[in-house]
Amino acid sequence: MLRVLEPELMEDDAQADAYAEANFDAPNAAFIEALGRRFPSLPETLRGVDLGCGPADIPRRLLAAHPGWRLDAVDGSAAMLAAGTKKHGAPDERLRLHVGRVPDTGLPTRAYGLVLSNSLLHHLPDPQALWAAVRAHGAPGAAVFVGDLFRPESPEMAQATVDRWSSGEPEVLRIDFFNSLCAAFTPDEVRAQLNEAGLPLSVEIVSDRHMLIVGRLPGGAA
Ligand SMILES: C[S@@+](CC[C@H](N)C(=O)[O-])C[C@H]1O[C@@H](n2cnc3c(N)ncnc32)[C@H](O)[C@@H]1O
Repeated sequence: MLRVLEPELMEDDAQADAYAEANFDAPNAAFIEALGRRFPSLPETLRGVDLGCGPADIPRRLLAAHPGWRLDAVDGSAAMLAAGTKKHGAPDERLRLHVGRVPDTGLPTRAYGLVLSNSLLHHLPDPQALWAAVRAHGAPGAAVFVGDLFRPESPEMAQATVDRWSSGEPEVLRIDFFNSLCAAFTPDEVRAQLNEAGLPLSVEIVSDRHMLIVGRLPGGAA
């Protein structure tokens, strides 16, 4: 099926609160485990950035596991950042929440040894916005770890995926999930985007609905 865009920013307070309150334990833990498997030797002291962080659950989990890391977490929606703070409390100084829109986030360039993003790509009308931000913010040799949904072949398959994985969720989240699947890219589309962006990252399908885009930016120590 063709891609069907959904609204880019999640700025509605009720939608942001529902998202922050939803149970993403399993997928977020899986994202972090996969990061550790792909990059087993990340330094103990690290500065990283999470692009399109939403309520910043993933950066909070990472900081709990890595006391020497500092993360900047950026989202274009102040409502999403606020919903995360409402749920988890204000972060300590190792997590800096920043309102900014990819690709022009206002964050430092060539500065981060780890560039993360989860479930942002499918929100972007122009996917090159993400790849430009990855290139701009990553230091030479930075680890890049991006996760997203991939688009099923038909709306019926998208609905079956929603029914399989979120039967007990509130309707607003089920609708979001369906729309996100329809807005997502296929792995081949992402490979073409990376080729166009000149980024040496690989695309791996890791579940019936998720893909990871992984690798290192050129330059830096091996
Ligand atoms: C589905 S949520 C994912 C949030 C989080 N990364 C997670 O894994 O839970 C997508 C987020 O991307 C944000 N977003 C969309 N377009 C953006 C842009 N151009 N720049 C920054 N954030 C953006 C939305 O506001 C939303 O919070």
